Amino acid sequence: MQDTQTLTGRPVISATGLFTPSESITNEELVESFNTYVERFNAANADAIAAGDVQELAPSSVGFIEKASGIKARHVMSKAPILDPDVMTPRWDERGNDEHSMMAEIGVIAAKQALERAGRDASDVDAVLCAASNMERPYPAMAIEIQQALGIDGFGFDMNVACSSATFGIQTAADYVRAGNAKSVLVVSPEITSGHLNWRDRDSHFIFGDVATAVLVEDSSMAPADHWEILSTKLKTVFSNNIRNNFGFLNRAAPENANNPDKLFIQEGRKVFKEVVPMVAQMIIDEAEKLQMDPATLRRLWLHQANAGMNRLIAQRVLGHEANDDESPTVLDTYGNTSSAGSIIAFHKHQDDLGAGDTGLICSFGAGYSAGTVFVRKTA
Ligand code: COA
Repeated sequence: MQDTQTLTGRPVISATGLFTPSESITNEELVESFNTYVERFNAANADAIAAGDVQELAPSSVGFIEKASGIKARHVMSKAPILDPDVMTPRWDERGNDEHSMMAEIGVIAAKQALERAGRDASDVDAVLCAASNMERPYPAMAIEIQQALGIDGFGFDMNVACSSATFGIQTAADYVRAGNAKSVLVVSPEITSGHLNWRDRDSHFIFGDVATAVLVEDSSMAPADHWEILSTKLKTVFSNNIRNNFGFLNRAAPENANNPDKLFIQEGRKVFKEVVPMVAQMIIDEAEKLQMDPATLRRLWLHQANAGMNRLIAQRVLGHEANDDESPTVLDTYGNTSSAGSIIAFHKHQDDLGAGDTGLICSFGAGYSAGTVFVRKTA
């Protein structure tokens, strides 16, 4: 066990980076395609539906999506096939072993931006964590591929804690710094969520979008003057089946799984909403108390971006009043739910206006259940 006396490193966030796919799908485009699929399905199955053998499909609606989630559009890596009512899934050519994986490719773009913003040479980085909710392949790790693409001499590994992958990655990186095992760690979250979303499922077809983020966690001794001190990190997991994806290497070969919705993202959205809001709000309040901080003094909350209503309730409980966009910014309208990258996008896009001494909270929550908090304070 490490003696706390020997823990000398003080972890900070030196910079962040963001890759946004150029293509985007509006709710209108998505619903038009979905409803064409529904009409065709119902027409093709009219007799079976009339006989009660097949369930008639109901159409989706733009109004419902926006009201229930706050999502208006989402970026994707492969728009045309998703919107083709005969396909409704992203399609891309399988890459050869001598090409970069998609996750590494977009992760590298985000990572390069973080390094550039920190004024950091990749040769000074010690480790790369690829923290995301799904991995393109089991091995070699995407993190090692990113490490090699950037020319980093050190180590890397992939980690998956669903929507909380990035905050779990930040704590892991911070712990390396605290323990003196690394001084500069890249936490990269390439989230190609369109690949595990069931675009034919009315309850969830509007949820996800694609993106990649990067967070450079470093020892304060080498960080640029303008950085975010990490005041505390806290992680929590509680088992739940309410958000689940059963795809895995032990079941992929079964022929009945070729188009099986059970092997894609599935959730009990209402239950998630009800169970996760109190858990996360309490976790934030408890951690603030440990830091002897009044949570109402938090200048900004960069919350997980899954649902505008969830964020409204969590912010209300934490701050003690209804939060405005400045206190709890959202990127849901243009990005949708980008799994673990959501709170990092919000942090990346909404931090430049804060001043020295301002405190804030990066917070994620999702499948597992899992939740992570990172309390930060701006320096320069
Ligand atoms: N278009 C129109 N109506 C729809 C619809 C769609 N796309 N999807 C569902 N509905 C209908 C339902 O059939 C239901 O109708 P009913 O009241 O007649 O039965 C009604 O809208 C409400 O459905 P429900 O699923 O209860 O919606 P909701 O208000 O819970 O919102 C979510 C759905 C998914 C947006 C919301 O539950 C949520 O965001 N939950 C948390 C998600 C989350 O954080 N997940 C983590 C993943 S990382």
